[in-house]
Amino acid sequence: MRSNNGFYGEYGGQFVPEILIPALDELERAYQEFRNNDESVTEFDRYLSEYAGRPTPVYCAKNISKKYGFHLYLKREDLLHTGAHKINNTIGQALLARFMKKSRVIAETGAGQHGVATATAAALFGLNCRIYMGSLDVERQMPNVKKMKLLGAEVVPVEEGLRTLKDAISASLKDWVTNVTDTHYLLGTVAGPHPFPEMVAYFHAVTGREAAAYFRGKGILPDCVVACVGGGSNAMGIFQGFLDQPDVALVGVEAGGRSLNPGDNAATLSRGTRGIFQGALSYLLQDDHCQVQDVHSVSAGLDYAGIGPQHSFLKDTGRVRYTHVNDGQALDAFHELTRLEGIIPALEPSHALAWTLNHSDELRGKHVLVNLSGRGDKDLGIIERHTREDR
Ligand SMILES: Cc1ncc(COP(=O)(O)O)c(C=O)c1O
Repeated sequence: MRSNNGFYGEYGGQFVPEILIPALDELERAYQEFRNNDESVTEFDRYLSEYAGRPTPVYCAKNISKKYGFHLYLKREDLLHTGAHKINNTIGQALLARFMKKSRVIAETGAGQHGVATATAAALFGLNCRIYMGSLDVERQMPNVKKMKLLGAEVVPVEEGLRTLKDAISASLKDWVTNVTDTHYLLGTVAGPHPFPEMVAYFHAVTGREAAAYFRGKGILPDCVVACVGGGSNAMGIFQGFLDQPDVALVGVEAGGRSLNPGDNAATLSRGTRGIFQGALSYLLQDDHCQVQDVHSVSAGLDYAGIGPQHSFLKDTGRVRYTHVNDGQALDAFHELTRLEGIIPALEPSHALAWTLNHSDELRGKHVLVNLSGRGDKDLGIIERHTREDR
């Protein structure tokens, strides 16, 4: 989804310290050259297929379909190398970093999936790598921390703020300002200043292209496409395959957390207001004094007060319906998919699945595609803890 000079309607832009503007200009030039260059695009596609494992299948989940009375299709991004959609973007941006002759990449991570995917791409392309991660997320996502270290990345726990994703992004932006000459900031979602939202959406568009081709092959369109929304990258990936099909309903599901009270959720588009955050104008969870609010979700990857500017635009235009499910509903959906289909999902896409299962009456007889953005290995500790607490 192309921006208009960095804006989607009124959202987006480059609200950053002046020192970063040359780096953003350089990145924009490299990105435009990349996408207009057949050789670069072919190389990217080759890494996606030979290294990351694309195309991923679309699986018709027969047992759930039978129980709930609609046709459920899962886009199996959980089968990708490193276990989530994030690898599409990290391979793309690592190729760009190499193109710009940067020797070092830095990244933020919440669930650790983007950190692992970045450390993986850095190992592949011989780049030094530092990952910033809120120290709360370090505790919650230890398997991914261990993987990043094995891959050769330095993991820096961030102790500021709520010790989650927003704080990791702020720490990464600070590092970038200081080391901009040799460092590329490999941002992990469709947020941040232009060109990040457009570029990250471009690298993830392959998910939507593959899903659309699958349905073309079957001679039908899905009635509804559902994705979870943290910063918004997996949702943009799959939505782009269907945005121009008005008959396909698009649903983005945010983290409703413990409740809809301030501080208890990360439902940015449902509960937020417009504001400037981490380099762009978008919706944002903020208080009456324009201070960024505390957020909570059982899933580290959705635990973010901001949102990519495309989603703010798509909300205002009404093309996408944004909604939320709570922690408990996501955990129930996690168990339902695990037990009925033998697929252990990450807690993030369990939110998309939860919304779908909870709307079985509305969806009766319909063809529903859910983007299964990642696998659940990283979440087993959280699942165990919740199962103990429930007993
Ligand atoms: C598996 C998975 N899905 C979804 C997300 C949310 O990010 P985004 O909204 O950018 O897709 C994450 C973030 O870490 C993730 O790991």
